[in-house]
Amino acid sequence: MERTLLIIKPDAVERKLIGEIIQRVERKGLEIKALKMENITVERAEKHYEIHKGKEFYNGLIEFITSGPVVLMVLEGKDCISIVRHMAGSTSPVDAVPGTIRGDFSMDTLRNIVHTSDSVETSTREIKNFFKNID
Ligand code: TYD
Repeated sequence: MERTLLIIKPDAVERKLIGEIIQRVERKGLEIKALKMENITVERAEKHYEIHKGKEFYNGLIEFITSGPVVLMVLEGKDCISIVRHMAGSTSPVDAVPGTIRGDFSMDTLRNIVHTSDSVETSTREIKNFFKNID
């Protein structure tokens, strides 16, 4: 059974989209294994996004993800990594298809509502970064 990390980003929390996103997750049939709301520290944000260090959008990305509270969830289900990525939609608002979370709620590449893990390797690493006491 796969696990993935879903983060409801500060823009979505500010826009009161927490319930909308959790509802989509539950309706799909994904299992919520853990859930919390917190402000991500700069240190943890840098670890989370270390693959993007040095890119032109990196500083803005760290600033944005630490700018306000987020909701973090560990989701479980067969093939859930790619299922949740499909539910999130493309990074670019031009490519994000209506019906996906980003396609329905975002006009911006940076302020794009959710983060989802993109592979088994990254999901394990990302979940460890944010959830210390998960079995
Ligand atoms: P990435 O991991 O490529 O996308 P995704 O979140 O869809 O897995 O990028 C991480 C985040 O960095 C992305 O959600 C938004 C931001 N970003 C930009 O601001 N500009 C860009 O050109 C890219 C590629 C990403």
